[in-house]
Amino acid sequence: YYVLSCSIYFFRVFLVTYIVTLAGNLLIIVLTLADPALHTPMYFFLRNLSFLEMCYTSVNVPKMLRNLLSGDKTISFIGCAMQTYFTFFLGGSECFLLVSMAYDRYVAICKPLHYPVVMNRKVSTGLAAGSWLSGLLMSFGHTSTIFILPFCRSEINHFFCDIPPLLKLACGDTSRNDMAVFIMASFFAIFPFMLILMSYVCIISTILRLPSRAGRRKSFSTCSSHLMVVTLFYGSACIMYLKPNSSYSPDTDKFLSLF
Ligand SMILES: *[C@@H]1O[C@H](CO)[C@@H](O)[C@H](O)[C@H]1NC(C)=O
Repeated sequence: YYVLSCSIYFFRVFLVTYIVTLAGNLLIIVLTLADPALHTPMYFFLRNLSFLEMCYTSVNVPKMLRNLLSGDKTISFIGCAMQTYFTFFLGGSECFLLVSMAYDRYVAICKPLHYPVVMNRKVSTGLAAGSWLSGLLMSFGHTSTIFILPFCRSEINHFFCDIPPLLKLACGDTSRNDMAVFIMASFFAIFPFMLILMSYVCIISTILRLPSRAGRRKSFSTCSSHLMVVTLFYGSACIMYLKPNSSYSPDTDKFLSLF
């Protein structure tokens, strides 16, 4: 009885969160399309991020909701592989899209006179398309090296198929895969994170030098939400995929994934 009522409780929480996520992102897409004043690169990236977020949450949450409701906790091998693939595809794309968005704000605030030339339509669509493509390729390479491993156990201590808990199920030596996760995560998290950090150092020092208080507030407000998303996304991803294997803790991972 306890397990059942607990599942129903989580089902409601996740269902409401999921619906709010979809509705909020859909609203952003519709609004930025409907208002001609918002047909700028910044809102193009934002629309793309919203679309990406809708896909990303739809990879894991509907399956989780079904499992919570039915009490059946299983996922097929193919289903698990697909979930891992799409999680890393969309997560990797999000890394690069967030870098593109930081670059957009960097040029807009630090090089305002060059902005219309540097961030033209071709560049912004190219950056977005490049983000999607690099996530797709990275995930393909990564997922295929995981799923050719022999698996000895089948109980995943997580609420979706993610690489660290999956590696715990493989038999034999997974140190090379652990290394691959580390290298990939460094490339996909630390490198973009450094770029974002560098552009923010410049952005913030430029903003602080603005003469008017209203101008400072306006510039900060175009960056603060990006900064918040970046901190949540990269903070949890870095802790999850970059910490040493010896300190692996399923409960911490599950909690961080929620973010
Ligand atoms: C996101 O960017 C890609 C590549 O430029 C584009 O094809 C796609 O239509 C964009 N999606 C949205 C929802 O704007």
